[in-house]
Amino acid sequence: MAERRVEFCALLVVGLLMGCSFMGLLSEATYVLSSIQEYPNKQGFEAELELIQHTTNLTLGPDITPLHFIVRLEEGSRVHIYISDYSNSRWEVPYSLIPRPKVYAETTTTTTTTTTKDNGPNLLAISYTKKPFGFAITRISNGEVLFNSTPIAAESSSSSIFNAMVFKDQYLEISTQLPNTARLFGLGESTRPDGLKLPHNQTSTLFATDTGAVNVNVDLYGSYPYYIDVREKGVAHGVLLLNSNGMDVTYSLDGTSLTFRVVGGIFDFYFFPGPSAKAVVAQYTQLVGRPAPMPYWSFGFHQCRWGYRNVSMDRYVVEHFKEANIPLDTMWNDIDYMDEYKDFTTDPIQFPIPELRAFVDELHENGQHYVMIIDPGISIAYSDYGTLNRGLKDDIFLKNQNGENYIGQVWPGPVYFPDFLNPKTTQWWTNEVAIFHNQIPFDGLWIDMNEISNFCTGTYCSWNGSIFGGDTTCYLDCTLTRTKFDDPPYRINHYGDYADIGYKTIAMTVQHYNGALEYNTHNLYGFTESIATNTAITKVRNKRAFVLARSTFLGSGAHTAHWTGDNGATFDDLAYSITTILTSGLEGVPMVGADICGYAGNGTEELCNRWIQTGAFYPFSRAHSNIQNMPKELYIWKSVTLSAQRALGLRYRLLPYFYTLNYEAHISGYPIARALFFVFPDDPITLDVSYQFLIGDSILVSPVVTSNVTSVTAYFPKGSWYNLFDLSRIDSHGSWFKLAAPLEVVNVHVYEGSIVPMQESALTSTLVRKSPFTLLVVFSTDESKLTATGELFLDSGDDIVIGIEQGKSSFITFIAKVEGGCGILKSQVVEGDYAKEQGWIIETIMILGLDKLPNSVSINSVSVTSSIHITLTKDIPSLELSRLKLYVGESFELEWK
Ligand code: GLC
Repeated sequence: MAERRVEFCALLVVGLLMGCSFMGLLSEATYVLSSIQEYPNKQGFEAELELIQHTTNLTLGPDITPLHFIVRLEEGSRVHIYISDYSNSRWEVPYSLIPRPKVYAETTTTTTTTTTKDNGPNLLAISYTKKPFGFAITRISNGEVLFNSTPIAAESSSSSIFNAMVFKDQYLEISTQLPNTARLFGLGESTRPDGLKLPHNQTSTLFATDTGAVNVNVDLYGSYPYYIDVREKGVAHGVLLLNSNGMDVTYSLDGTSLTFRVVGGIFDFYFFPGPSAKAVVAQYTQLVGRPAPMPYWSFGFHQCRWGYRNVSMDRYVVEHFKEANIPLDTMWNDIDYMDEYKDFTTDPIQFPIPELRAFVDELHENGQHYVMIIDPGISIAYSDYGTLNRGLKDDIFLKNQNGENYIGQVWPGPVYFPDFLNPKTTQWWTNEVAIFHNQIPFDGLWIDMNEISNFCTGTYCSWNGSIFGGDTTCYLDCTLTRTKFDDPPYRINHYGDYADIGYKTIAMTVQHYNGALEYNTHNLYGFTESIATNTAITKVRNKRAFVLARSTFLGSGAHTAHWTGDNGATFDDLAYSITTILTSGLEGVPMVGADICGYAGNGTEELCNRWIQTGAFYPFSRAHSNIQNMPKELYIWKSVTLSAQRALGLRYRLLPYFYTLNYEAHISGYPIARALFFVFPDDPITLDVSYQFLIGDSILVSPVVTSNVTSVTAYFPKGSWYNLFDLSRIDSHGSWFKLAAPLEVVNVHVYEGSIVPMQESALTSTLVRKSPFTLLVVFSTDESKLTATGELFLDSGDDIVIGIEQGKSSFITFIAKVEGGCGILKSQVVEGDYAKEQGWIIETIMILGLDKLPNSVSINSVSVTSSIHITLTKDIPSLELSRLKLYVGESFELEWK
């Protein structure tokens, strides 16, 4: 039982000790808190945690004592809890990767200074028990306990306490009690078959792994020890454990506890107060990094396939898209283009540089773009390979335990892996990217296999690769000694079957820069490669970088886009793509998509049809497939062609809206594709909607994700929703609707109260940018709510820095109101001259929800009634004002009476 409770900062007293009992794996360790040192101005405190009772089962190693317990109140009212070894430093996520206030340095400053930064009003309170030690985080406004690690008395055992924190060298455990009404989202990356919300009775294993997205509920490419917890009335908070070691996070059967079991590092917790899910994402991305702005063109459609074996095939595909009248912005090449799978080379027969270069030049002339794949493994099979030799000279490869370059095995056979934690590696990488870009002027890079995927397991010489045909011998150094890092005392549930921790990856004893161990840094590899690649492309192209990474970590969104990896060509995979994408957005990587039409397997025409109807609205919209499958380009099947024209046609019209969301993601961290609960926090039903999504706050996509159906049952939060294809309206009280969805139909609706900026559809985003704008104004049918608002952000779309940061953009707000038969639409250029310089005009204003023909229309008080075209469609009802000439870059007021 707790000895006594101490409240910090004279904040709320909370009833901490809850009645339920649950068991950790090792629960009887007892730490006692002492030597409290409070910081001035209530900015936090630190204390010592001393062990007075060891865990009885010491198979996981001895307990560490004393521990340093630091509590800091930080920016945005987040609470930072830091628990580490008092006497010895331990592995922490490097500050260079996720820049953040330094816990020790800033602690010292705070203790010696009398002034403090204003972190805003405290929203969270921290309390602790001294003996046995535990802490709790409480929401001040309602007294609700959000996180509670306080050990509790066991009801059913002679042992005194359960749920106590454990802190060993290779095993850390901490649990929080939860009300079973909590709803958790996050803890990716994993393909989850049970919907968006984390199901009870499940362990999320966070360890970057090339498992393949087809495998559900297992560790996958990325690691996000972070979740959003939504409580009653949509009040949300976020919990982040900033730790890069492998871990299992177990949600109990009854939903009353969550336990972190981590194989190293420290407890570095951040609690974000919300109180909305939007605020949580903003607070979390403020810490880990706001998403990078993506280039405008990357919001167009992308076509990829492993199996475009030569330049003629590339050209054929691009031509067929055009012939079929399907938009295509970016053509991709997979590893087929490489010479013997060597990075930064091209196959001299199939992809000779002059021919490939000419093809890329043609793409550019057509306003299209080109992206190439790069893998981290650098082939060591050729002594005249420049990339390898320059890397050897700079000594930037990962080392084995004997200090020699570690040999792994991927597509080219034996390889060395660059160490992206080493600053020299970024220079070498940038130089390689520059040399290659000089030969092939690509626009972006796709960085794959960066978990690191290895076809031979860690220290063993056993083949696990998926390459077919060819040589399956392992060339690894089979003499490496297995250590406590290759055989840690606690086995995370790697690969879904507690596989060897080195399975399909490199040895855990591999040494990174400054002796950092793979064991600790494993989850950071893709993240560090993304940073280096973003730096390299930016420098080489002198334009905004586009990087697509498979393995990601907390903060990756600040450097890269992401795709969900090797999914299957099945309807299940189509459905799961939505939950993985929505989770990625909540985790700070908003530019995300899944392989449209499915990567593995042939699939069917029906599947590809439904997939393009869904994927056309992913933030990152790319079709991709495996070399072993039949080609599945959208123009191959007639029904798919028609759906692609329709769905991508709408996407292209919405590009200004997508791009404004890209800006919003960069400024606030908000996802581009949003879960319904994120936008409608007052509606509890939305928490269980997993297979629909919103683009921004205004556009709802309700796709068909099952086969053989001609309707879809979709949830519509309260209000009026207009179908963007036929303008038919749904008035919802917050209910499920059965919508017609024959093969050629995808349901996409716009919400009341929105103003959506649109342009004309075209075959490339370059052409869309040249077309006139339409403003879609959507009024409610509820007479008490006749206001609509919207925003538009515009810049060059490709400058390194997003326009707002260099005064080369325009940010425009729109507000419309109707009252007593009169209406007004105000556009206000809040910032920047960019739109004015471009001379963009709004030609059409479409107002949904109006059923009266106006007698007069004026712009800035000058009547334009006679010079414009006014159409009223009674049965929709909607009013269209066309043949306008309103400058996007100039504020205006348009009135109708
Ligand atoms: C990996 C990627 C996949 C790619 C393949 C060949 O499996 O996930 O997208 O096609 O490697 O490069």
